[in-house]
Amino acid sequence: MRRLLNDVEKVLISEQDIQARIVELGREITAAYTDQDRLLLICVLKGAFMFLADLVRQIEVRHAVDFIEISSYGSGTVSSGVVRILLDLEQDITGRHVLIVEDIVDTGRTLDYITRNLQTRGPASLRVCTLLNKPSRREIDVPLDFVGFEVPDEFVAGYGLDFAEAYRNLPFIGVLKPELYKPQGQDEPDSCR
Ligand code: IMP
Repeated sequence: MRRLLNDVEKVLISEQDIQARIVELGREITAAYTDQDRLLLICVLKGAFMFLADLVRQIEVRHAVDFIEISSYGSGTVSSGVVRILLDLEQDITGRHVLIVEDIVDTGRTLDYITRNLQTRGPASLRVCTLLNKPSRREIDVPLDFVGFEVPDEFVAGYGLDFAEAYRNLPFIGVLKPELYKPQGQDEPDSCR
């Protein structure tokens, strides 16, 4: 872990703050659903896997989990703009109360695609829980029902979120040193991620 920590410029949200907020989110979600709701949590892979694992332990109503994997980013911090399903759900969501669990909503393109896609499958309700929200970069307005934290316009990593598939195992949300993702000779950070 020490080698990974050397790549971190600053910690934005500490492990303690993440865990404390997840306890609150668990209470909010528990209050919003009842045991009769046939609740299904859909984890958006890969970034939300750690959040889902901690969140479900704070939710006190009966529920099932399923997974969907979407590609929206390449290996860097620049969005490809192309969204497609890499892994689809195992379960039929018709008539289910569905809660999408996301790691971060940035431009909103990924979530917009997922919600429109899932809506066509006839869920009884469809809501969204995201750990992080980056509202400054929103291109598509997507309603968010449960939000952990708002983050500034910086590329963040840790607690499930990656940069080039690494750093997911950091227990906090941090900003990496700029030289890691800046091409050689480029002084300004990417304006489009
Ligand atoms: P959007 O489609 O622009 O809203 O981006 C959503 C997806 O992009 C998220 O689910 C993440 O996988 C990824 N993403 C966006 N911003 C960041 C970031 O700051 N760090 C890591 N991944 C990010």
